[in-house]
Amino acid sequence: MQQVHTVDELRSAVAAWRRAGESVALVPTMGNLHDGHMSLVSLAAAHAERIVVSVFVNPTQFGPNEDFDSYPRTLDQDSRKLAEVGVDLLFVPSVREVYPRDVSLSTIVSVPEITDQLCGAHRPGHFDGVTSVVCRLFNICSPDVAVFGQKDYQQLVVLRQMVADLHLPVTLIAAPTARSRNGLALSSRNGGLSEEDRQTASAIFETLEFIASELRRGRRDFVTLQAEAIELISASGLEPDYVEIRTADTLRAPAADSARLVVLIAARIGGVRLIDNLLVDPG
Ligand code: PAJ
Repeated sequence: MQQVHTVDELRSAVAAWRRAGESVALVPTMGNLHDGHMSLVSLAAAHAERIVVSVFVNPTQFGPNEDFDSYPRTLDQDSRKLAEVGVDLLFVPSVREVYPRDVSLSTIVSVPEITDQLCGAHRPGHFDGVTSVVCRLFNICSPDVAVFGQKDYQQLVVLRQMVADLHLPVTLIAAPTARSRNGLALSSRNGGLSEEDRQTASAIFETLEFIASELRRGRRDFVTLQAEAIELISASGLEPDYVEIRTADTLRAPAADSARLVVLIAARIGGVRLIDNLLVDPG
């Protein structure tokens, strides 16, 4: 596996593959890789001949009081894992390489409206940071396909809209959420949880499943159902940011006859903010 740090090096590797007629998949990450990230790499391998993984802790998607400085950086370990599964190239750029000008003076890519809701309401500017870096990574790498996890569902919807709005020539592929045995979605932030917190945090998935089964039973009193779920989450010892039932494709408030729904939860425990979601076809 090649490991490169600059745009020029990445572009020349990709150009050589293209001359050989090979297709390219990109898996953007912030590192500290777990089995969820590795499942994205496997899915990438099923869609392209060459796999590029980027590891870049993107400063523009962290708020001033968030965990940018303490975000886990484990490059040696990440690099070994990626080499083992046959990744072709690991791209590890510096902040200067991705944002050649002062970060605060650089061009922002911003998807309107849905970025103000849900996690966007609790983390102002977060999704502008995500779209600003992912658009750059697409321009640097020119992948045919890029793989993102359904775990960050709103991020996926925002990125789909960016790709459509800007006519970006890349196909997005969604990977299912990888979970630990108690249902807790794998996340780099789980490392900040005690064993007891991890047990408590399983209430997020249990609550998602509760709402999904109520929807499948025919309930459509979304607001009441959300309030019941907030109670469940709070009673388990988590601090909920939100529990929301939305339409799966646009993240709007659903109607009684909406076909595909998504239930999204964000909650805090032990200073860690966790998010999860479940797609539901209420039938
Ligand atoms: P990061 O949190 O490192 O996640 C990288 C990718 O892994 C994202 O597409 C995310 O949805 C996916 N992922 C994380 N946990 C997962 C799980 N349990 N199951 C399946 N997929 C999972 O998301 C980001 O980084 C950044 O915002 C990024 C897109 C790299 C832009 O900086």
